[in-house]
Amino acid sequence: MYKDTTILAIETSCDETSAAIVRNGREVLSNVISTQIDIHKKFGGVVPEVASRKHLENINMIVQEALQQAGINLEKVDAVAVTSGPGLVGALLIGLTTAKALAYSINKPLIGVHHIEGHIAANYIEHKELQPPFICLVASGGHSHIVKVKDYDSFEILGQTRDDAAGEAFDKIARALGLGYPGGPLIDKISLKGNPEAIHFPRAFLEEGSYDFSFSGLKSAALSYLNSMKMKDEKINIADVAASFQAAVVEVLAEKLIRAAVEHNSKYAVLAGGVAANSKLRQELQCLGSQRGIEVLFPSSILCTDNAAMIGSAAYYRYIRGVVSDLTLNARPNLTIGERV
Ligand code: KG4
Ligand code: ZN
Repeated sequence: MYKDTTILAIETSCDETSAAIVRNGREVLSNVISTQIDIHKKFGGVVPEVASRKHLENINMIVQEALQQAGINLEKVDAVAVTSGPGLVGALLIGLTTAKALAYSINKPLIGVHHIEGHIAANYIEHKELQPPFICLVASGGHSHIVKVKDYDSFEILGQTRDDAAGEAFDKIARALGLGYPGGPLIDKISLKGNPEAIHFPRAFLEEGSYDFSFSGLKSAALSYLNSMKMKDEKINIADVAASFQAAVVEVLAEKLIRAAVEHNSKYAVLAGGVAANSKLRQELQCLGSQRGIEVLFPSSILCTDNAAMIGSAAYYRYIRGVVSDLTLNARPNLTIGERV
């Protein structure tokens, strides 16, 4: 008889403390996310030490809440999954220590999950029909990768950023525009009122055929535009700068993702990571995808951001293949995609 697999998942790699209960990799029974954004906003970015302390204060409560919302006891859980990297080492350690203690207490397996593989798996929750292989763009605060997802646990990096991650570029330009933190959603919102063609910022497509990205030239161009306007004492139209900057980032991300899908005969072009919530990126991709016969998929906004449900989904595909961790599992702040956790 088929037995359901229920996983308790924990995610604390950056500034969201999250716990979730996920059944059979695709069904979310609960996904509790406590964000620290309001705390870090004051500092213009995540302060690692503060993040660790807040995770420690909240984690037990968040786990309890996830169990309660799912209506199950800890003893009913088949495995405990946790993000083991990449991320902030102190923040990761809080999740790891909690997950180890819980797994040990109920004598169930512990499963370490790669944060970015979790972001990709968010799409399995959202799109029940989605199965590898497919091409995925993972764009977050720390990553901009085009990945060939060959199987649930097999990944090939086709391209990646040579300098800033896309989310990082959004955050830096938002700061320069005085919009606050995190910058991506603020630029997305204000861009709706701006003209994306007001300022022509450079698009770095790099060498022909490359799937790599580079956002530092664009970032410098935007910063030097702002400087020169200030020097000339001219009024800066923030919405126009934001919209023009966003258009430049989105054009390169969308073009490279769709090209990768076409060149690798993938039916789907899939988006993942915090930047996948960007409205212009979604719009542009759907437009390009329909022109080139590629189906574009992305998770709902809540599953784009850091959350434990995506970790529970990725963990399920390890669990059914018998890939579990032992209690020596450690935090790996610089883990690369596809590397064994
Ligand atoms: O995946 P995520 O929540 O955390 C990391 O793993 O890094 O991604 C956070 C990043 C931030 O840089 C944030 O500015 C960006 O995702 N982001 C967005 C949007 N929402 C979040 N960037 C552009 N447009 C958005 N709507
Ligand atoms: Zn993330």
